[in-house]
Amino acid sequence: MDKFNIAIDGPAGAGKSTIARLVAGMLGFIYVDTGAMYRAVTWKVQQEGLHPNQETEVVALANRMRIELIPGPEGQQVFVDGVDVTKEIRMTTITDDVSQIASIGGIRQLLVALQKQMAVAKGIVMDGRDIGTHVIPDAEVKIFLTASVTERAERRFKEMHTNGTGTLTLEQLEQDIARRDQMDQEREISPLKRAHDAVLMDSTAMTIAEVVDEILGLCKDKVGGGK
Ligand code: C5P
Repeated sequence: MDKFNIAIDGPAGAGKSTIARLVAGMLGFIYVDTGAMYRAVTWKVQQEGLHPNQETEVVALANRMRIELIPGPEGQQVFVDGVDVTKEIRMTTITDDVSQIASIGGIRQLLVALQKQMAVAKGIVMDGRDIGTHVIPDAEVKIFLTASVTERAERRFKEMHTNGTGTLTLEQLEQDIARRDQMDQEREISPLKRAHDAVLMDSTAMTIAEVVDEILGLCKDKVGGGK
């Protein structure tokens, strides 16, 4: 099979985006970071001075805005109404509000519909929280990628210090990750959950290369794709 879809779900900081980008590069597929779409909506909400509690206004605003995801060698670039927000959507002010925005039914409806459209042509590696359960339940390869909270916080800590996007301590990061995990797992609409047919991978003691290798091996087993 030439083209197929890969769904990668899991909690914050499990390494989904790094892994998904590398797997997409190896297969010549397009990488779609769905978390960036929820972050883009959160960015716009803050720009317009709305509070995440103003659900009707937030949904109306999201329906008016244009989100573009442009795949590039350095990762996916994100534009909102023509403005490049790639860096800004990673700031802690956005991270603080994004899970609340992502729990609004009208927002999920809108973004999931866009994500489903992106996956129609196949050849997509999509990462998020509900990809294998709701967005592309028929994806040929499904992975639920996780790691311990401590390991995930340490990875985020290193990443933030490398690209200068945050000033949080390791402890604060651990708390933030645990808080987002809880909100994402407990929300009513499409909570973070392993799809019954997703392969569970715990990356705590694995290198990035090992995880990528395992996923490519899985692609080969399932659809004859990959290595
Ligand atoms: O992946 P990332 O950490 O950037 O996602 C930010 C937030 O967006 C998550 O904590 C979650 O609340 C939300 N999200 C979601 N469904 C997705 C992707 C992200 O609810 N498919």
